[in-house]
Amino acid sequence: MADLESKSIPIIEVRDIVKIYDSGGSPLRALDGVTFRIERGEFVAVMGPSGSGKSTMMNTLGCLDSPTEGSYFLDGRDVSKLSGDDLSEVRNKKLGFVFQGFNLLPRATALDNVALPLVYAGVSGGERKRIAKEALERVGLASRLTHRPNQMSGGQQQRVAIARALVCKAPLILADEPTGNLDTQTSIDIMNLLTELSKEGKTIVLVTHEPDIAKYAKRVLRFKDGKLTADERKEQDRGE
Ligand SMILES: Nc1ncnc2c1ncn2[C@@H]1O[C@H](COP(=O)(O)OP(=O)(O)OP(=O)(O)O)[C@@H](O)[C@H]1O
Ligand SMILES: [Mg+2]
Repeated sequence: MADLESKSIPIIEVRDIVKIYDSGGSPLRALDGVTFRIERGEFVAVMGPSGSGKSTMMNTLGCLDSPTEGSYFLDGRDVSKLSGDDLSEVRNKKLGFVFQGFNLLPRATALDNVALPLVYAGVSGGERKRIAKEALERVGLASRLTHRPNQMSGGQQQRVAIARALVCKAPLILADEPTGNLDTQTSIDIMNLLTELSKEGKTIVLVTHEPDIAKYAKRVLRFKDGKLTADERKEQDRGE
């Protein structure tokens, strides 16, 4: 295993990441020297108390925010110093987001929300519609193509966000509390969907407070006070 790992480039490699927020004079170290790597196809849960730096970590991994110090190699490329267009290009090609705060366009239909990343990717109108429809069918929303977010349940909206994360065929899916406000059954549906995607080879990193949700992952990274305090791996497959 170690031999294989050393030969392949990890999808994520962060080294000594520090993120300092300047909140009204007193600097806050939201991330305080974080180092880890994630191999292609891993399914990783990020856990830790409120304020421990989980979302800050995800925003960094998602190239939505750049670290104050340290380096971030995404699929072998140092992205920690990129800005503007380069960063949006990386986001578009490599990443799918399922973020609660990174939400759907309220006035757009499910189909248009899902097709949006394809607009930036320069895909033609008809093709966009076809791909978006396929992605929505994939997440079980074939009957909700023309619904707007406020006409859908929380779980359905989350599935639209997952469909949107799928259309660009990005290798890495980042999810910050994807089951946050969902009931148990809907959470299970979402986690089964992410598990399927993981089996197809997508790398998934998700933040959760709930041990029951973290169980779906094969590895747990625990944060506390901006530091990575534990890195736990499960060898055996979860029986379904
Ligand atoms: N934009 C910001 N400006 C200043 N401080 C911030 C900012 N964003 C986060 N912080 C601070 O950084 C620390 C880490 O925040 P972060 O959002 O990463 O925590 P979290 O682990 O995701 O918490 P939660 O479980 O509540 O979502 C917190 O102390 C928070 O107050
Ligand atoms: Mg958070």
